[in-house]
Amino acid sequence: MPHFDFDLSVYQARRAALQAAMPGDGLVLLLGADEMFRNADVDHPFRQTSDFLYLTGFDEPDAALILTPESTLLLCRPKDADMETWTGFRWGPDAAREAFGMDHAACIDDLDSVLAETASDAGAIGYAFNDARAATKVQHLQAELAKRARQGVVPAARHFDLNPLVHEARLIKSDAELAMMARAGDISARAHRRAMVTAHPGIFEYQLQANIEHEHRSAGSKREAYQAIVAGGDNANTLHYVANNQAIADGELVLIDAGCELNYYAADITRTFPVNGRFTEAQRRVYQVVLDAHAAALDKVRPGQAFGDYHDAAVRVLVAGMVELGLLSGEVDALIESGEYRRYYMHRTGHWLGMDVHDVGRYAVEGESRPLQPGMVLTVEPGLYIRADDETAPAEYRGIGVRIEDDVAVTAGEPWVLTGAVPKAIDAVEALMAEDTWA
Ligand code: GLY
Ligand code: MN
Ligand code: MN
Repeated sequence: MPHFDFDLSVYQARRAALQAAMPGDGLVLLLGADEMFRNADVDHPFRQTSDFLYLTGFDEPDAALILTPESTLLLCRPKDADMETWTGFRWGPDAAREAFGMDHAACIDDLDSVLAETASDAGAIGYAFNDARAATKVQHLQAELAKRARQGVVPAARHFDLNPLVHEARLIKSDAELAMMARAGDISARAHRRAMVTAHPGIFEYQLQANIEHEHRSAGSKREAYQAIVAGGDNANTLHYVANNQAIADGELVLIDAGCELNYYAADITRTFPVNGRFTEAQRRVYQVVLDAHAAALDKVRPGQAFGDYHDAAVRVLVAGMVELGLLSGEVDALIESGEYRRYYMHRTGHWLGMDVHDVGRYAVEGESRPLQPGMVLTVEPGLYIRADDETAPAEYRGIGVRIEDDVAVTAGEPWVLTGAVPKAIDAVEALMAEDTWA
């Protein structure tokens, strides 16, 4: 079976829901991920696309799924004893059909002909509009079908985007998905605790990254949810800093944004802490503003609040803090209105989280920020970034960059913080860092 928790009935139910939602005369084509060349004879590690995995549980390269309202068909690589000697087990269509609960299966090499056969009387073809490979396949299919006009074949007149159908389903997590995300959050929280305990002045950013990733792998996570950001000092002011190759000097903060992927579900945590274990006064002041913004935002993660509300709540606290710190001057409302605060806070306060770290699902419906509902999971990640070369900022704050990020599930009641097992209050961070051995 696949090397992750696999419950066939879950995948069958997801496909059935999609089949019920698609046009009655429709056909859906979904392509899985290909292997990607890295350099001579070396591929990037394979990861199935989230949509394909969500609907099939099938995590081999070179696969495709064809759905009609009545039937499911998986295409995959053939069994091949020689190739399996080199690269390992592959299911092959017969065994895959059985194990993954499909009505039919075929060899991926026959995709074009299978598609032409299945699509010959479809009135609408659905595929992911952001997948150029799928668009090309569909175009070729239509050209192929057009050639059969004298046999009475008419290419489908309508195309529809598969994304909204699958993505709105993925946006609302089941209890089992929430449990998996809570585990991913817990493992990643433990990894951040390890980084806090093992940090010391002079440590290289990549060494802290190694400590984090060791903890993830040890706990059963196969890979990171995204490339870790481990940013000492002013590097924290580069939002997507991934070079992670500098030594962290005594007196500097380090910002770590890292999360594991567990059974295809992501965690996404940021903590910022002093590499020597004690915040300076200036660091403490900036940090506390971000922590207060985090608390204000978290309080808005409740059903019925619009998605945008928690960002607005964070911005209000951050901007008041920027004035207090002397980074900006003026009225909070006017500074929000003018957008001047973006000099120090230039990103949103969070995003959906799920199988993808920036997960799928619409943020607005009919132009309005959408209401939160139980089963949605999002990040809360306010920050404040003061570049070392910002000569308009008070000198004591230059080079400080802080972000605090947790993963939060919307429930019918209180927000459920999935990543609360790593401290963020100043005293709690310092207390943990005072421990000098990691058990
Ligand atoms: N780690 C990416 C993000 O926080 O959005
Ligand atoms: Mn993050
Ligand atoms: Mn994030």
